[in-house]
Amino acid sequence: MPLTNKQLIYTRKPTPSINPSVTSNGDGTFELRTSTFPDPAVDAIPENKILVRMLYLSLDPAMRQWLTAKRSYIAPVKLGEIMRGQGIVEIIGLGKGIDTNKFKIGQYARAATGWQEYALLPTDRNAIEPLGPLQTISTASQASTGPKTNQPQIRATDFLSTLGTTGLTAYFGFLHVGKFDASRDKTVVISGAAGATGMVVGQIARLKGAKRVIGLAGTRVKCEFLVNELGFDKAINYKDTDWKKQLLDATPEYIDVYFDNVGGEILDACLLRANQNARFVMCGAISQYNTGSDFGGAGKSGGSGGVRGLQNYMMIISQRVTLQGFIVFDYVKEYPRALKDLSAWLEQGKIKRREHVIKGGLEAAPAGLVGLFAGENIGKTMVEVASVSGSGSSSSSSHSFGTKAPVAKL
Ligand SMILES: NC(=O)c1ccc[n+]([C@@H]2O[C@H](COP(=O)([O-])OP(=O)(O)OC[C@H]3O[C@@H](n4cnc5c(N)ncnc54)[C@H](OP(=O)(O)O)[C@@H]3O)[C@@H](O)[C@H]2O)c1
Repeated sequence: MPLTNKQLIYTRKPTPSINPSVTSNGDGTFELRTSTFPDPAVDAIPENKILVRMLYLSLDPAMRQWLTAKRSYIAPVKLGEIMRGQGIVEIIGLGKGIDTNKFKIGQYARAATGWQEYALLPTDRNAIEPLGPLQTISTASQASTGPKTNQPQIRATDFLSTLGTTGLTAYFGFLHVGKFDASRDKTVVISGAAGATGMVVGQIARLKGAKRVIGLAGTRVKCEFLVNELGFDKAINYKDTDWKKQLLDATPEYIDVYFDNVGGEILDACLLRANQNARFVMCGAISQYNTGSDFGGAGKSGGSGGVRGLQNYMMIISQRVTLQGFIVFDYVKEYPRALKDLSAWLEQGKIKRREHVIKGGLEAAPAGLVGLFAGENIGKTMVEVASVSGSGSSSSSSHSFGTKAPVAKL
């Protein structure tokens, strides 16, 4: 019997927010369809192809931009295509010609499958990267923040977060773009601080010796998490009416490095607190992604029309502030060194993990993506598309790699 493969197809442009409905006769941004794939138990896998089963699908705010931004670092997803995305997969079939020293049945990998349950992939690194060598894959009890020291061994899902795009973004953004130097820089401020990228930035700032690490986040619980679990010196709930006063009080020596994940009013408020020669790391602007601007298109917005511009930009001149944008892929050649640091810090408990795992299978992805814009997550957001034991997605809330999970090896 061929495998039934659920896929989410980009069907309608967001207007401007994503509509998470996945019914075929609705008006959702994505539509659920099914296709069939070879059953590796009986069918031959096409030559030089690898058949994978999606386990954990990464959700990222940039996905909103991929739908409509015309001139960006990556081409937009076209209407009618499977939504772009990557996740942690299990290799379940190998075609003739595949190097079995490199790819093995049962092995975990990070793969660019798109939003679907199964995929047939070529062997190039952009499509699939086997994970490993990993010591073991940990179990449910080690999910969430983990113990304070001697964090359990590296987990497969770490390759979507601390050892994946968001961790690398934090590393290169803070250390290379922000040029953090503890002998000179005292105060670091991070927006979106309880999210996947922000929480790693703050922890790197701590371990590199920043005197004052301040995070901005959207709930009291997130602020408590930042201070109590991650060791931030101060966390400010930007939904408090007096958050700007709190920011002023928290930055008596001004801000040396600001890591911006959100843009908009928070970026502007931080500019008012910029120290001389401060570096503003322009990583993301999630508060502006749903403005309907299409950046380079000939759409109704005429390009960047809906985006809130900077009001306090004269601070850039008077305080000689550097605002620098970057895309993590610019640093691809330097990933190995960064991963060496990040994995050591993770294993030593110097960086703690936090995952926001959404149950409900592939169908839950659109609502999960919308949830990023509503701040539903703490830490890295991912959808459990299938459980490791192979029983498919479940509705329970615990997150696990089953204890029988195979050890991933190269
Ligand atoms: N430059 C690069 O190469 C690169 C690479 C990866 C990611 N990024 C960017 O980095 C940022 C963080 O990405 P992530 O994957 O780590 O996501 P994330 O921080 O885990 O999740 C997004 C968070 O943004 C916050 N948020 C949503 N709407 C907001 C608003 N209007 N104002 C302020 N905060 C808002 C929410 O938390 P609250 O509850 O605190 O609001 C939410 O939890 C994004 O802007 C992303 O595009 C850039």
